[in-house]
Amino acid sequence: MSIFIRGGTVVNADRAFKADVVCFGDKIIAVGENLDAPPHATVVDARGQYVMPGGIDTHTHMQLPFMGTVTADDFFTGTAAGLAGGTTTIMDFVIPDPKQSLLEAYHMWRGWAAKSAGDYTFHVAVTWWDDSVHADMGTLVRRHGVNSFKHFMAYKNAIMADDETLVKSFSRALELGAIPTVHAENGELVFQLQQDLLKKGIRGPSAHPLSRPPEVEAEAANRAIAIANVLGTPVYIVHVSCAESLEAITRARAKGQRVYGEALAGHLVIDDSVYQSADLEYARAHVMSPPFRGKHHQAALWQGLRGGNLHTTATDHCTFCAEQKAAGQDDFTKIPNGCGGVEDRMSVVWDAGVNSGLLTPSEFVRVTSTNAAQIFNMYPRKGIVAAGADADIIVWDPEGSRTISARTQFAKGGFNVFEGRTVRGIVSHTLAAGRLVFERGDLRAVEGAGRHVDRPAFTATSAAAA
Ligand code: URP
Ligand code: ZN
Ligand code: ZN
Ligand code: ZN
Repeated sequence: MSIFIRGGTVVNADRAFKADVVCFGDKIIAVGENLDAPPHATVVDARGQYVMPGGIDTHTHMQLPFMGTVTADDFFTGTAAGLAGGTTTIMDFVIPDPKQSLLEAYHMWRGWAAKSAGDYTFHVAVTWWDDSVHADMGTLVRRHGVNSFKHFMAYKNAIMADDETLVKSFSRALELGAIPTVHAENGELVFQLQQDLLKKGIRGPSAHPLSRPPEVEAEAANRAIAIANVLGTPVYIVHVSCAESLEAITRARAKGQRVYGEALAGHLVIDDSVYQSADLEYARAHVMSPPFRGKHHQAALWQGLRGGNLHTTATDHCTFCAEQKAAGQDDFTKIPNGCGGVEDRMSVVWDAGVNSGLLTPSEFVRVTSTNAAQIFNMYPRKGIVAAGADADIIVWDPEGSRTISARTQFAKGGFNVFEGRTVRGIVSHTLAAGRLVFERGDLRAVEGAGRHVDRPAFTATSAAAA
């Protein structure tokens, strides 16, 4: 029942200090110097290592039915892979079909997620509008612990939300104390550019980034921010991939608007040369939206994270195997969009961010856990190593290294966008709700052990603070 983490350096978003940590049941009960281990406690030796809050991946898609197929990782395999990489909570998405009841979809996803090995919570997508959607949003916030609603500005003829839906849903979210989030890409422009490319006979995966240039993303980011400004709502932009979108966020924040931005581990380190590969299976495996970008966009995203205009890091973990991706072998618009990463985000962000001097360890904690907990109202239950918080803790070995590969990963799909990358800085132990679920390569994920995290609505005094 109790775990004693001895002799590490606790790193929280505000400071780092030497301390022991005592966990009992699913909670942290004490953090301090020279504590005594409770009788019969499991002792974890953290000397020379960092003790940090478990990662929160704000953006995953486990078991998602999408583009005619279903992602390779389900809620068990996906959350288990997360635990192996130091992510103890995922924020996934309920995505109702247009005309499907939000509540019906929510309960369907809750059923699928019951087998999760780590904690999980849901953003609910608003893909259409009528009075029932208005009512269901209220029920979700008041009775089901949902405080964020997602809007896809892309995926025309599928789940795209038009301006009417954005305006009505943002207003409703404000009324309820929930935060609207957006996938910012102009779906009309994407559709038009896709048709133009196909007409010219450009059908391979190299056409994917051509159909989704940065301006297409920036237009939607600016529009969402403008709508939020007029209505007086905060807004959170998922997977910001380009300098132009970041500029929109930076400008709005400078004027005092509450706008938050999320960067994906993949967008931070992978560039668009992957689409030029002669190996079409490899190129297809990288098809996700927004696409990987040129290197100057990566530099901008790092600056955004460091400067506080981007707040969270996520993965958009959405894995499809080669056979699934092959559905688009003759037409790039039919390649299921999505890539993995839930297992690797923490190490990739540490290696590229902290080892390079771009981020301090406390800034790392902020962008991998604390800001997510604050923006989505899970703090201080999540996002901090402190008495009273959930015992979701990672012991981080800054000198340990591993070479990322699909051959050794726990995640499904048979592919890894970070293949061959050697990262220094790895999780040695993961505690999830007080259970030691990962210890130096040994994953002990338990199906169904994860819990749904209820996230209360914001009130006037608890508006997202990051
Ligand atoms: O390509 C992506 N990102 N697939 C998952 C759905 C989404 O847009 O987030
Ligand atoms: Zn998206
Ligand atoms: Zn996504
Ligand atoms: Zn398969």
